[in-house]
Amino acid sequence: MQVLAVTSEFYPLIKTGGLADVAGALPGALAEENVTVTTLLPGYPAVLAGLTSAEPVRTIDDLFGGPATLVSGRAGDARIIAIDAPHLYGRPGNPYLDDRGADWPDNAQRFAALARVGADLVRGLIPGWQPDVVHGHDWQAGLVPAYLRFTEGRAAPFVMTIHNLAFSGRFPAALLPALGLPWSSYTIDGVEFWGGIGTLKAGVRLAERVTTVSPTYAREICTQEGGVGMDGLLRSRGSDLRGILNGIDTTVWNPGKDTALTQTFTRKTLEKREANKAALCARFGLKPDALLFGVVSRLTTQKGLDLLPASLPTLRRLGAGIVILGAGQPELEQAIQAAARPGEMGLVLGYDENLAHLIYAGTDALLIPSRFEPCGLTQLCAMRYGCLPVVTRVGGLADTVIDANEAALAAEVATGFQMPAADRVSLDLALERVATVWEDLEAWERMQRNAMKAEVGWARSAAQYAALFRELV
Ligand code: ADP
Ligand code: GLC
Repeated sequence: MQVLAVTSEFYPLIKTGGLADVAGALPGALAEENVTVTTLLPGYPAVLAGLTSAEPVRTIDDLFGGPATLVSGRAGDARIIAIDAPHLYGRPGNPYLDDRGADWPDNAQRFAALARVGADLVRGLIPGWQPDVVHGHDWQAGLVPAYLRFTEGRAAPFVMTIHNLAFSGRFPAALLPALGLPWSSYTIDGVEFWGGIGTLKAGVRLAERVTTVSPTYAREICTQEGGVGMDGLLRSRGSDLRGILNGIDTTVWNPGKDTALTQTFTRKTLEKREANKAALCARFGLKPDALLFGVVSRLTTQKGLDLLPASLPTLRRLGAGIVILGAGQPELEQAIQAAARPGEMGLVLGYDENLAHLIYAGTDALLIPSRFEPCGLTQLCAMRYGCLPVVTRVGGLADTVIDANEAALAAEVATGFQMPAADRVSLDLALERVATVWEDLEAWERMQRNAMKAEVGWARSAAQYAALFRELV
């Protein structure tokens, strides 16, 4: 079975968040299920520079305002087709934003082009190769089935995966002709979404199946509170909407072999983990024998980290330290920076893959007070590295972390701490609960070992995706 994945991010070529990890890991996991994935990506500079065995396979005279070349290549074992179109993607930095943090003004064209090429690959754009199923990720791929439905040619089944309903790909209706879609597509059963074009909405409406990245989030987005204006449509998809939990690539995230660590360790050599904590504390001037929290996150309101400054007095009272690695909304970055005190907080505003690995390996507990979380990967990375996640009971966080309540502690199954809501009181209570368990070294280490043996890989979920694809062909 041949699957074409359409995505705007792919680890290790281009990453702003978990979408890249998922798109990068699924092809390898699906190969075990006899599914061959080819991934279509925008040819951002980092993508073109990172491809190996790259060769041009097709030229397009005019792709929304300029010429394009399809380049076929590899990233590790993964097969990639990149769209080399300098007028659309030849810009350094973030895939979606300019250097002042504003959306690129032509994002509609940039990602419609991605979807258009995806649809045209179904129609034999590269002679001799046609996918059986197209798997689109997020709003950037949402128009694939619109092109398949509303323009001439062969169609193929489309699976729409929602990684985050908060990003819906909304653009003015007037752009429709520029995107090469007929006005007949602009209806409630097509691309229209609350008076504009909604690319994710189009994908959700027109896909043969819709998935999202955890069972709990699949339920949450069908409610008015969690549905971001799409709950009615999502409910109408009934059993075509499924929640398939994300995993992480356990070869990339492996504390036994991780070159970013000061000291590698396993469940059996847990005591070696300390060296990573010592390295972090030395780097940031923190007390090595105190409880140490970590944060690795986009700094946005989704992630609830605006709650953090108000909880620092609680951390102080508990004698705990914290290491924060994050980047995002400037006002949030500033608020955290303003609250930082030397000796209590290590703060790095930016993106640093190696430091992220060291934080999972060296802090005791990872704070993830998200307001909503489709799946979340950092709790999985943390658990794999014996760092206990402290999470809000929402979305994929609810599905992956077993709360250290009395019963779970007694049954020796707890893997982290859940809090009922993303608010200051819940966060403070959670911090105190963590400190109480941490005082009991035996209980803490038992939780670490439980967390480290939790099944966080892709095997089970890849089988679910493969079964879904097979239903369709
Ligand atoms: P989201 O996709 O919503 O940002 P996820 O938890 O699904 O959240 O995935 C986040 C991914 O990005 C993880 O691989 C995490 O390690 C990584 N990450 C987030 N922020 C940073 C950062 N500042 N530096 C390095 N890696 C980061
Ligand atoms: C999104 C979500 C995150 C999820 C990731 C990968 O970025 O915010 O919860 O883990 O996609 O599916």
